[in-house]
Amino acid sequence: MVKVLICETADRVADVAARMIAAQVQARADSTLGLATGRTMEAIYARLVGLHRAEALDFAGCSTFNLDEYAGVAPECEQSYRFYMNQHLFSHVNVNLTRTHVPAGVGPDLDLSAAAYESAITEAGGIDLQLLGLGENGHIGFNEPLSALRSRTRIVTLDATTREQNAAMFGGNALDVPTQAVTMGVGTILDARSVLLVANGAGKANAVRAVIEGPVTSIVSGSALQFHPQCLAILDEAAAAGLTQRPMIDYLMAHDPELIHLSESMSG
Ligand code: GLP
Repeated sequence: MVKVLICETADRVADVAARMIAAQVQARADSTLGLATGRTMEAIYARLVGLHRAEALDFAGCSTFNLDEYAGVAPECEQSYRFYMNQHLFSHVNVNLTRTHVPAGVGPDLDLSAAAYESAITEAGGIDLQLLGLGENGHIGFNEPLSALRSRTRIVTLDATTREQNAAMFGGNALDVPTQAVTMGVGTILDARSVLLVANGAGKANAVRAVIEGPVTSIVSGSALQFHPQCLAILDEAAAAGLTQRPMIDYLMAHDPELIHLSESMSG
């Protein structure tokens, strides 16, 4: 099952998510983190930068692997996810840039570099904590509807809704968003030892319901997280609004030791 923690506001969601990532890094200085991009992550990275500055949160021993990158977009381009990561996190903390990885969106052979990405994750010992956002269509990474639930890092064609959702970074026109991307597969994501799914806002409510309560289906790649033994979803009230199992979720938030601990650290 996916454990669910509902917070009053998106600010609280970011606080808890950042604290969880910080706890992972503090528990294991050589943690391998799986990282995500998108608007939801910006507030989380801002808090991690804050924790680095205020509490000396130390990323020196960490390795990172990002979920995805646009095909055809070079790392120097400001639309690239590599640029995003440098801008929001890597440039502001003491992570060793040579241990930060983002799938290659350009190069002579993207199939080969995607396979090499999988090997690099394995060589790093696997991902300890994978941070995930959620597409409005329920995708994780860029695993669009009908992605194989055992898929690995590969080139994919982006769904029209995804191109619309991400148009802002490309001047507002969905047609200017690349048609393809390289993403970790659903299988790659499921291999992470723990997963933290973060979603805010009413626009994600349907996807959240489908991921947490729906049947496991390749139409909603996030629903595969129901197979993951250690997956926590942190949601604001708006993103949680479509959940039909709210009474049970509230009960668990009041009685599950892990969720109680998280709620307490949130108010502290
Ligand atoms: C893109 C990323 C996804 C991310 C999603 C959420 O599609 N490839 O990994 O989950 O954005 O974006 P936002 O947080 O902006 O809603």
